[in-house]
Order: sequence, then C-alpha cells, then structure tokens
Amino acid sequence: MLLYNALSLLSLSSFAFAESKSASAECTNLTVQVKVNAPSHPVLMPVLENGYQAVAFLLAATGRDAPVDPSGLLGPPVNISKTFSISAQYCSPSSQSKKSSVVQILTHGLGFDKSYWSFGNATYNYVEAATGAGYATLSYDRLGTGLSDKPDSYTIIQSPIELAVLVGLTELLKSGDLHPSIPVPAKIAHVGHSYGSVLSNALAASRPDLSDGIVLTGFSHNSTYERWWEISTGFNLARENQPARFQGWSSGYMTWGNKYYNQYGFLKYPFFDPAVLEYSEAHKWPFTVGELLTMALLPLASPGFTKPVLLMAASSDLIFCGGDCYGIVDGPDSLSPSVFPNAKPFEAYIQPNSGHGMNLHYNASGWYGVVSAFLATNGL
Ligand SMILES: *[C@@H]1O[C@H](CO)[C@@H](O)[C@H](O)[C@H]1NC(C)=O
Ligand SMILES: *[C@@H]1O[C@H](CO)[C@@H](O)[C@H](O)[C@H]1NC(C)=O
Ligand SMILES: *[C@@H]1O[C@H](CO)[C@@H](O)[C@H](O)[C@H]1NC(C)=O
Ligand SMILES: *[C@@H]1O[C@H](CO)[C@@H](O)[C@H](O)[C@H]1NC(C)=O
Ligand SMILES: *[C@@H]1O[C@H](CO)[C@@H](O)[C@H](O)[C@H]1NC(C)=O
Repeated sequence: MLLYNALSLLSLSSFAFAESKSASAECTNLTVQVKVNAPSHPVLMPVLENGYQAVAFLLAATGRDAPVDPSGLLGPPVNISKTFSISAQYCSPSSQSKKSSVVQILTHGLGFDKSYWSFGNATYNYVEAATGAGYATLSYDRLGTGLSDKPDSYTIIQSPIELAVLVGLTELLKSGDLHPSIPVPAKIAHVGHSYGSVLSNALAASRPDLSDGIVLTGFSHNSTYERWWEISTGFNLARENQPARFQGWSSGYMTWGNKYYNQYGFLKYPFFDPAVLEYSEAHKWPFTVGELLTMALLPLASPGFTKPVLLMAASSDLIFCGGDCYGIVDGPDSLSPSVFPNAKPFEAYIQPNSGHGMNLHYNASGWYGVVSAFLATNGL
C-alpha cells in the first residue's frame, strides 16, 4: 500500500472562464491547472493492439484463474510531477444564504463526465437541486473525460493520480486560488458517484483535513460483484465502439457494447426513461486500463475522518451489490461502518427503485432531498 498522506502536492491555477445564469444558479466554467506529484505504476502487459487482445485481457482478468489482486500487472511506482488542465464548473446559488459558503465538490464515475451532475432538466439535475437548496457546487471532468487532459491511459490515468487531482483541486478551492471570483468556502463537502465515490472515500482516508463531510452515492464497500460489470462491458475499445467520437484514441480507453449493456450496468427497468438511456449512451465517456488496474491501490479505511459520512446506495446496484443492496449496505453485515469508525455520524441510505446510475432514474430528485437533509442536519 502506498502512503498517500506522504504525497506532496503543489498547486497553481490559471484559467479561462465563461459565465452563465439559470433560475437557481450562477455558473462559471473554468479551466484549472492542477499540479500533481503522485505515483505512476508501470503496466507490465503489452499495450493492446486490437479488440481481440482486449477481450483476451478481459478473460485473463476475470476468468477462473484470474488473480484476485490485479496489482501483479504493475511494476514498482515512479513519482511523476505533472500539471494537468482540468475542466471544471463552479455554480453558486442566486440568492445568498448561510449555506452558499458550503461548497460541494462533485466527482463523477466511470462512463460519464461532469455533466452527470446536471444531466438534463430539473428531473435529472443535481447541481440545480443543490444550488436550489443553497449550496455552491464544483464539478469537474476527471482525467480522460470531457474537456480535461487525456494523458496516457495506461500509466497516467491511474487511480492514485486521479486522487491527487481531487486533492489538488480541493486545496486550490480551500486556499482561494481557484479563481479570483470564487471565495474561500467556510466548509467543503465531497460528493461522489461510483468511482467518484471511491476517490472521495480515498480523500477522506488520506487527507481527512481537506473535507467537512462525505457523500458516497452509487457505492458500497463490497467489491465482489464488480467483475460482473467488467464482464458485461466486453472491454470494447472505445475507438471501435464509437469511432465518430473516439477515432485515434489509445487502446487503453474502453467502453461497453451498446445501450443494453449500459442499462445492465447502470439502470433499473422500468424506473428510467428510454430517451435518457439513449442520450447517456450517445454521450458516454470511456474508462481506462490504468484506472481498473490501480483502483485497489486506493486507501479506503478512514479512521482519521471524524466528520459526517452518508453512504447513498441504489437499491438495485449491479456493480456494488450484484443487483440488490439490501443486506449489503444496511444491516449487520455492512462493511462500511468499520471503514469510517469515527465518522460523526455515519449513515447508510438505500434509494428505492434505482440502479447504479442513480441520477438517471425518474426519482433522482428523491435522493437529492435525502442528501440535502443529511448535510443540513449535520451542520453543512
Ligand atoms: C515518491 O514520493 C514519496 C512521497 O514524497 C516518497 O516517500 C517516495 O520515496 C518516492 N518514491 C520514489 C521511488 O522516489
Ligand atoms: C459551460 O460548459 C458546459 C459544458 O460543460 C456548456 O454546456 C455551457 O454552454 C458552458 N457555458 C458557457 C457560458 O460557456
Ligand atoms: C424533463 O424532461 C422529460 C422528458 O425528457 C419530461 O418527461 C419531464 O417532465 C421533464 N421534467 C421537468 C421537471 O421538466
Ligand atoms: C459481499 O456481499 C455478499 C452478499 O451479501 C457476501 O456474501 C460477501 O461476503 C460480501 N463480501 C465481503 C467482502 O464482505
Ligand atoms: C423517491 O425517493 C424518495 C427518497 O428516497 C423516497 O422516499 C420515495 O419513496 C421514492 N419514490 C419512489 C416512487 O420510488
């Protein structure tokens, strides 16, 4: 295991920005330069040359003889020092309130970019709900997605480096160096979805000083079923699957086959609009070989985190619960309370009638309300 609290992070910011207003929020688009020092792990397998090799890799990674721990495919880490260009959006509520000095940093999961958090009209718009409830939000495109940098998908788009980006962004926000128009927040909450929850949890584990509260959506600490999702994707090369968008991209960028595999991994029928599935399939973003191989390197145990933690799971989450979160996320067998033994408080909630892609279901606003109420009740 690596010691992430030993990471040294230097951050600088420069920016280009554009502003827009909606009913509940004023939003600023930012391009933030985040300087990161973090470990990069050499990948000891040859770069995939074609789709056949990608499928062979999937079988090797998930078959009967597959190693439980994929870190055997990684060499000893080398520290890298790089500055990444990260596309972010800061939204503040139109009417100022006590809560507008609380900023929620939103980290999206695999398959999306930051638009996950403002997916469509008010039915699917977490940012609008959060700003409507008085909070400011900072969403960003993770490395390899949206308008952010797309460095090497094997050796640089790796989980510890993505954690360092989240740490770096948080430090810039906290020190008031994100942008001259963005004030230093009174408090910062980290809200993740799926892989974004893994990163937010890892921030609480490695830099508990940087967060005043964590909300982990589309997540559990049981990784037994992640393989089911990996298998369902078929490790399609993104450049073959959507050549119109990803032609020429490295073979380390992968995706699932079509909208039905998207449904299998992300949505619970019939609690979603087929038009939303079509849209999310057409606008999906790839995940990387580097992310998959290094996810287990992130520290999750967070005994040093003493702030509020909400685990917001989807009732029918495939990836984190094998399609049924009852008994995994709630009840005596849940692993999560022991990950956050000192959180005050730790709470778990299961959103009914939802698959893993919680923001893409008809009742998304139901869980928005639970998150806002949890934060407000706990002083955020
Ligand atoms: C990488 O950086 C960490 C933290 O600064 C340090 O502890 C470690 O020794 C470095 N590793 C190498 C291989 O230089
Ligand atoms: C901000 O970025 C989003 C995409 O992330 C885009 O839809 C929107 O038009 C941009 N706003 C402005 C004012 O440029
Ligand atoms: C959002 O759009 C969908 C159609 O895509 C519509 O059914 C729904 O009523 C809209 N919701 C709101 C709050 O406007
Ligand atoms: C994950 O959940 C399943 C079903 O409840 C259980 O059998 C398994 O032991 C859990 N895994 C861990 C690591 O607790
Ligand atoms: C919508 O979500 C809220 C909050 O979790 C829940 O109380 C309500 O029962 C849900 N409604 C449906 C129809 O699932």
